[in-house]
Amino acid sequence: MSEPLAQVRFSAEQIRDRVDELAASVRADLGGRRPVLISVLKGSLVFMADFSRSLDVEAEIDFMMVTSFVGGASTGVVRIVNDLEISIQDRHVVVVETIVDTGLTLSFLLKTLRARNPRSLRVCALVDKPVRRIAQPLLDYVGFETEEFMVGYGLDFKSRYRNLPYLAGVRDVPALALEPDALIESLTLGKGPSI
Ligand code: IMP
Ligand code: MG
Repeated sequence: MSEPLAQVRFSAEQIRDRVDELAASVRADLGGRRPVLISVLKGSLVFMADFSRSLDVEAEIDFMMVTSFVGGASTGVVRIVNDLEISIQDRHVVVVETIVDTGLTLSFLLKTLRARNPRSLRVCALVDKPVRRIAQPLLDYVGFETEEFMVGYGLDFKSRYRNLPYLAGVRDVPALALEPDALIESLTLGKGPSI
């Protein structure tokens, strides 16, 4: 039998446990201070929902939307399409990010947020792909490390697979690019992580 195109790497249970651990660390470091939680749509929508509830402190939540200009290779030129509603001046800010790959998006975001003079600025990333790094944003909290392209738990491939409850690693991204629906049979919701 041929190798599956993708495999579950981090199950829903593993993610839940790790998110709870991350939230406990962040809560301890906040020491009772009320944070602003910020994430970039759309990839962090699931992580933000779980993390913010596990954090279990009074928090404000806000979102940004950005686009990157991609001209062949990623240029690191990022533009804000939708900005925060909340002022972060003098606030304790936690950036809630599902995955950090090249680091270019997060570096841009941190530069932008830092210029608004928050009291503190921390980053909590569920998945880190350190081998792919181009920019080096500091990650204060990291859930998992991987080298693979991941789908599920908010992460997409061509807008698909965001609502899978687990994180799957894609073994053959070029094959998936040729047929973006290729994982639907094996990874589909309802069937569960039985690949
Ligand atoms: P960057 O390369 O660190 O700037 O990553 C920018 C964005 O690309 C992330 O916030 C994700 O939305 C997306 N991304 C990076 N790696 C993956 C992946 O493995 N699967 C799905 N989306 C990814
Ligand atoms: Mg994406």
